Amino acid sequence: MKDIGFILNGKEVTSRVEDTETLLHTLRERFLLKSVKEGCSIGECGACTVLIDDEPHYSCLTLAEKVDGRDVKTVEFLGEEKALHPLQKAFIHSGAVQCGYCTPGMLLTAYSLLKKNNNPDDGDIREAISGNLCRCTGYIQIIEAVKYAAGILNSET
Ligand code: FES
Ligand code: FES
Repeated sequence: MKDIGFILNGKEVTSRVEDTETLLHTLRERFLLKSVKEGCSIGECGACTVLIDDEPHYSCLTLAEKVDGRDVKTVEFLGEEKALHPLQKAFIHSGAVQCGYCTPGMLLTAYSLLKKNNNPDDGDIREAISGNLCRCTGYIQIIEAVKYAAGILNSET
């Protein structure tokens, strides 16, 4: 076991974790953040994506102890039902959510992209989300949503 401390969605937290524990397990079972989805568990689907220091990572492949001292964000950081982030509004507006299983990871990947590139083209978005699989929507609506969110964010600045 190891004691770790990190920033989780803007707040300092601590946890005692197993040596082989994944960040996916820590977030879901110790912090009850069920938005972090478990799909394949082998780094192929992206459903478990979280941000570590604002970069997307597969939490199923990340040992919990590796986030000691770092910044971790899950989709709860973005917004809540009554105060959705522009990306969340855009996904709804563009019909980019169906079952929703991929959506938390997709939103976080898109958030990371827009922090680095506030006017991404289709190719930029396709490349960014290439590690996040969606079996429902096709990717057209997701790409439209990210561009729509960029427009909202740019109009706010
Ligand atoms: S559950 Fe982690 S990549 Fe699929
Ligand atoms: S909305 Fe169902 S997997 Fe993407």
